[in-house]
Amino acid sequence: FPIYAQQAYENPREATGRIVCANCHLAQKPVEIEAPQAVLPNTVFETVIKIPYENTAKQILGNGSKGGLNVGAVVILPEGFKLAPANRLSPELKEKTKNLYIQPYSTKQNNILVIGPIPGDKNKEIVFPILSPDPAKDKQAHFFKYPIYVGGNRGRGQIYPTGDKSNNNLISASASGKINKIEALEKGGFVVHIASTKDSEVNQNIPAGVELKIKEGDNVQLDQAISKDPNVGGFGQNETEIVLQSPNRIKGMIAFFFVSVLAQIFFVLKKKQFEKVQAAEMNF
Ligand code: HEM
Repeated sequence: FPIYAQQAYENPREATGRIVCANCHLAQKPVEIEAPQAVLPNTVFETVIKIPYENTAKQILGNGSKGGLNVGAVVILPEGFKLAPANRLSPELKEKTKNLYIQPYSTKQNNILVIGPIPGDKNKEIVFPILSPDPAKDKQAHFFKYPIYVGGNRGRGQIYPTGDKSNNNLISASASGKINKIEALEKGGFVVHIASTKDSEVNQNIPAGVELKIKEGDNVQLDQAISKDPNVGGFGQNETEIVLQSPNRIKGMIAFFFVSVLAQIFFVLKKKQFEKVQAAEMNF
């Protein structure tokens, strides 16, 4: 959950560029970002995060039963950019974001936004309404090209903040030896009895919902996978660039184009005039 990251890390992006969700969401899956190439100051624009996965995917839940996946995302904007306030949203953007509770990562960093968990079936595309800063008012902001980093996740993580593994993990044998017995428990799950040496037995508890791929009588090695990997989700990160564009630069550019075109036209007219003079001189 994003809250696990908010509690444990002041900055969700490590020096290496890795986003911290990946520390507990171990599988890697793609995410996409869509943002405008350039924005004007003090303007609301939208950034879309896409977290694709198969609609039919089911994952193992905390209680061992199967269920759908949830999604969540983190967006790391340049400093000065922030979540657009509700009163600046167009009716169209309001509609697109009406069920989304997007929050700043922390009180100090309102340029970092998080959302989730939210149901994945309806939210494979999440729209973030963003307000660009105005360098005229905000001295930190400059007309410049900036990176935007995003992380998106679907499905449950593998590690809790306490360091414990969740049941959404592949299970490996805790000893080498022969499987004496696989005992199914009434509340779900199994105890696997591994005869590690002639007279000692290792009992390994398997949580409910996990599918074993071994049977009684098999020989296993220490750390050999004895269950299927239940994890169908995964985390991914991506980045793009955005230009905070000065309106004066654009006006200047248009004025320059206009002047250039006008100059070209006058050159042609001058040439025509000169040709007339030449023609008149020849007929003399
Ligand atoms: C669950 C997103 C960081 C550990 C989830 C879920 C989402 C999510 C959407 C729900 C999945 C589902 O129900 O299908 C994120 C994002 C993160 C982040 C976007 C970064 C901003 C972390 C971190 C940890 C962590 C840092 C570990 C310290 C877990 C675990 C679960 C989970 C263990 C499963 C909880 C349960 O159902 O028992 N996360 N997460 N997550 N996350 Fe994260």
